[in-house]
Amino acid sequence: MYDEIDLDKIDRNAEPPTEEPARQYYFMAKCREWVKDFTQKQGRSPRACVVNMGCQMNARDAEKLTGILSRIGYEMTDTEEADFVLYNTCTVRENANNKVYGRLGVLNGYQKKNPRMMIALCGCMMQEASVVEKIRRSYPFVNLIFGTHNLYKFAELLHTALFHANASGAPKGASSMVIDIWEDTDQIVEALPAKRKYAFKSGVNIMFGCNNFCSYCIVPYVRGRERSREPEEILREIRMLANDGVVEVMLLGQNVNSYGKGLKQPVTFAQLLQKIEAVEGISRIRFMTSHPKDLSDELIETMRRSKKICKHLHLPLQSGSTEILRRMNRKYTKEQYLLLIEKLRAAMPDISITTDIIVGFPGETEADFEETLDMVRRVQYDSAFTFLYSRRTGTPAAAMEEQVPEDVAKHRFDRLLSKVQTIAARKAMRYTGSVQSVLVEQVNTQDAALVTGRMDNNSIVHLRGGADRIGTIVDVRLTECRGFYYIGEVV
Ligand code: SAH
Ligand code: SF4
Ligand code: F3S
Repeated sequence: MYDEIDLDKIDRNAEPPTEEPARQYYFMAKCREWVKDFTQKQGRSPRACVVNMGCQMNARDAEKLTGILSRIGYEMTDTEEADFVLYNTCTVRENANNKVYGRLGVLNGYQKKNPRMMIALCGCMMQEASVVEKIRRSYPFVNLIFGTHNLYKFAELLHTALFHANASGAPKGASSMVIDIWEDTDQIVEALPAKRKYAFKSGVNIMFGCNNFCSYCIVPYVRGRERSREPEEILREIRMLANDGVVEVMLLGQNVNSYGKGLKQPVTFAQLLQKIEAVEGISRIRFMTSHPKDLSDELIETMRRSKKICKHLHLPLQSGSTEILRRMNRKYTKEQYLLLIEKLRAAMPDISITTDIIVGFPGETEADFEETLDMVRRVQYDSAFTFLYSRRTGTPAAAMEEQVPEDVAKHRFDRLLSKVQTIAARKAMRYTGSVQSVLVEQVNTQDAALVTGRMDNNSIVHLRGGADRIGTIVDVRLTECRGFYYIGEVV
């Protein structure tokens, strides 16, 4: 088992293996040598900080990067005044990019105080050539840049960056910036280490990339083509997680409903769920994201029957107007979406449904926007993420005429948000007095006599209890609803 290999037993003087993941374990061993040397000279281990700036997929990637750094011997820290800082970036909306440029200035200040500090950037934003060019020109103090497709090569890239550094461990400067970005990949490298944020729950990638090309979205360009992991690999990982104390898994993909299509022996997402249901020790299964165009009756039926799949579905609507949906290349109509909601509620009357909505897509008229409000009223979402449309260079929507003026979009956004919040608050009340199963996640940050957990539908509950409850699932009576969270007591 690679995950358990002792790095010190790897022959570091041999030629690097060509096959993966052996090659990466070899470079982990080489980096470990560097870390030992640092520790001896400085009298302490080097400290590393990994910052996740994106979605759940990025969060899982950050756990893999953290896993590799920990295996090498870095001490992980939350402070960015560290010896190695890695930003795992997102580029889905413009403001995500701006945040990175702002933070780089701060990091530069830290690096001036600690010349040994190395700064690395990876993730979706680095897949854009214009971004990398800008960093190369304007932020020469960055030491390492890599992308989403070669993330598995992190140990090897880190090795190159570390050995670009001079004898005292200080990076050489601008000329030594290591950059490696791939256009795409069809490779999936298994069995690399990962360090979970929580002991009792974990994200599990079931697929990578996206083939949908929604016209506003940059993800297919920065994450590449859709590819599914083999079901056996997914199950192997989940069994290992269960053995290690994990009770809840979140299956991750940009469009989990199309899981399995490209495999040699195609498997549907519903079939995969059934296999995962059989894994002993796993009590809760979640997944995201579901695309409405691929949500099958088989999946609804599998959810209905399952004792482990949480009765919660995140089903992005994006817009309530069929015309805007067409221009967004979403491949469903308002009526088809409503029909899905009907089917879901018929099968699982208490299912919690959440969504994503974009306001101000090019060409959105007041009437189109009214259709979105109408859908929010009709579906009665338990919660919704609302976004102002952001123009992403290279996507078809960026070139569309009739971009909606900012003030108009903002005004619509505020109206939508207020509607969404009113409905969500009212819906949340319906659980008051009921008994719900709650997975206890942490000691309450404000009051140490309380712990905080999540219901099946992902809502937050605070209840009396100590750290010994963390990771357990308890039945809780919800005594009070305070807007978006509950107070409860164990029954
Ligand atoms: N694969 C998922 C979500 C990916 S991105 C899905 O298809 O649902 C998460 C959300 O960001 C999207 O659902 C969408 O609502 C929003 N989003 C994506 N691109 C955007 C853009 N250019 N402007 C504003 N919001 C965007
Ligand atoms: Fe983007 Fe659409 Fe793919 Fe989701 S399904 S990642 S919104 S292109
Ligand atoms: Fe952002 Fe990449 Fe996720 S662009 S939303 S981090 S897939």
